[in-house]
Amino acid sequence: MEGTNLHQIGVSFKGSGSYVPNQILTNKKISKKVDTSDEWIRSRTGISQRRISGLSETVSEMGYKAALAAIEMSKWDLETIDLIILATSTPNDLFGSAPNIQARLGANNAVAFDLTAACSGFLFAVITASQFLKAGSYKRAIVIGADQLSSYVDWNDRRSCILFGDGAGAIAIEATNELDNLIGFSMRSDGDRGAFLNLPSQNNQDLIIDDITYLSGGYSTINMNGQEVYKFAVREVPLIIENLLKKTNFNSEKIDWLLLHQANQRILDSVGDRLNFSPEKILSNLTNYGNTSAATIPLMLDEAIRNKKIKQNDIIATSGFGAGLSWGAALIKWG
Ligand code: ACO
Repeated sequence: MEGTNLHQIGVSFKGSGSYVPNQILTNKKISKKVDTSDEWIRSRTGISQRRISGLSETVSEMGYKAALAAIEMSKWDLETIDLIILATSTPNDLFGSAPNIQARLGANNAVAFDLTAACSGFLFAVITASQFLKAGSYKRAIVIGADQLSSYVDWNDRRSCILFGDGAGAIAIEATNELDNLIGFSMRSDGDRGAFLNLPSQNNQDLIIDDITYLSGGYSTINMNGQEVYKFAVREVPLIIENLLKKTNFNSEKIDWLLLHQANQRILDSVGDRLNFSPEKILSNLTNYGNTSAATIPLMLDEAIRNKKIKQNDIIATSGFGAGLSWGAALIKWG
């Protein structure tokens, strides 16, 4: 798709979709694998179970199903989609999994690419897509968050394996010449603290021929300092949301929903508390899915929209945070 320079002034949110695999890994089952208990996991994280991809389920497959559901809700013709961004840290093709989703959908006019920012990825992708739409380059975008962290979890590390699950979510965003429903946003990175949570490459040194060396490709497992990540989240997330609300002349009373990356119920409660959000405004479904990385925000959003909790014109303060370290916030009006 070529940019058309339509000079739109804003974006609106037209549809949502999500998908989770069928396999359910309960706390009881995980307790048979590592030395933990349902009581410990629920009291420290709020998580009861998580979904794990089946052998033939990939990020492309999950992302495709979530995107299709979002397109169906938005009632868009596939040919009218200009842009597909897949936020993922676990692509099934390192060269990019988004084009595979584009092909499965048959969205033949869309340009499709991956974006990686761990648990902030979906939010960063929504903001990125919105810039193309507001610039007038493109008219319709699908933004997907999909991750398959089960492939990279150390299933013998009880400090981290209890947290993560697999899934996908997507939304449909359209350029509009009416008011902007992406009211404001903020994005941050701090690579100095990157070692608190990473999934580094793990390479073997070898020789191609003679004295020409190379590193074989491969990845290790998720490496996490839980306490530092926890401290980072409960400090930075309230700050970035607070500053965004100030900048946009909003306060917690004017916000209908607080939609945070679903990492840990204690993080959600602490951030909500710091920002004076009443508990019923804090969206949470992590008890069922755990931390699905880039997928948690659209998974939660789609559930709340389909349950008719989130309604047209509701104001949502959302924040993604995680590895990088990276974090961001956006204030959106749904619709
Ligand atoms: N079951 C039982 N005991 C456990 C478990 C477990 N699953 N895990 C750790 N413990 C033990 C520890 O060994 C430790 O025992 P010790 O005192 O004898 O040494 C004790 O419990 C306390 O360990 P802490 O690490 O201090 O536990 P904490 O209360 O910090 O909870 C947790 C750990 C849940 C990981 C928490 O730190 C957390 O949620 N941090 C944020 C992590 C996160 O959200 N990461 C993802 C970010 S998003 C992204 O980008 C992917």
